[in-house]
Amino acid sequence: MLLKLGVLASGRGTNLQAIIDAIEAETLPAAIAVVISNHPGVPALGRAARHGAPTAIIERSAHPSHSAQHQAITDELVRCGVELVVLAGFDRVVGPEILRAFPYRIINIHPSLLPAFGGGLHAQADALGYGVKVAGCTVHFVTEDVDCGPIIAQACVPVLEDDTADTLAARILEQEHHILPMSIRLFAQGRLKVEGRRVRVLPPP
Ligand code: GAR
Repeated sequence: MLLKLGVLASGRGTNLQAIIDAIEAETLPAAIAVVISNHPGVPALGRAARHGAPTAIIERSAHPSHSAQHQAITDELVRCGVELVVLAGFDRVVGPEILRAFPYRIINIHPSLLPAFGGGLHAQADALGYGVKVAGCTVHFVTEDVDCGPIIAQACVPVLEDDTADTLAARILEQEHHILPMSIRLFAQGRLKVEGRRVRVLPPP
């Protein structure tokens, strides 16, 4: 059985593309039930369409409140039979409407080694500015505390002497494209067991 994914993406969509590539290579036992963007015309929607995945645009401006928008996103995810929600470059904090409907069934990719540099949209520049020597990315379950949910996977990269925020972000992004499909695969295989803050990765069946 293929795990039905709902992907929330706001922009470029390279992490969505990594998921699509893994599905098309048959290394990820999943199917994209819907890709939802909160902005029209973004590259992520084109990537979804080329893969043949259904898309929806659910904008803040079309709803009276953040809560109404996030209820509409929830309704669409439920309508599409989504089993796991993947935040792949979603630029908003998900509301309680989505969290309640998908407890421990929402994962997020963040471009830092959490708990460092969480909570924002410029984690790579923040890491460089802080002067860290190692940076990286994290996939975690999404809970009501932003970027604080139990960690599924992390990957690290060196910070080089001549790095800019862009070169560091590109090095981190390469790792994002590995650990996000890998985490979804582990979830699909039923190998993630949450024990408090820890996520245990069970051996393959
Ligand atoms: C990625 O680097 C992702 O980790 C980051 O946005 C980028 C989206 O790129 N997400 C966050 O910063 C969330 N706080 P993509 O659209 O090419 O996947």
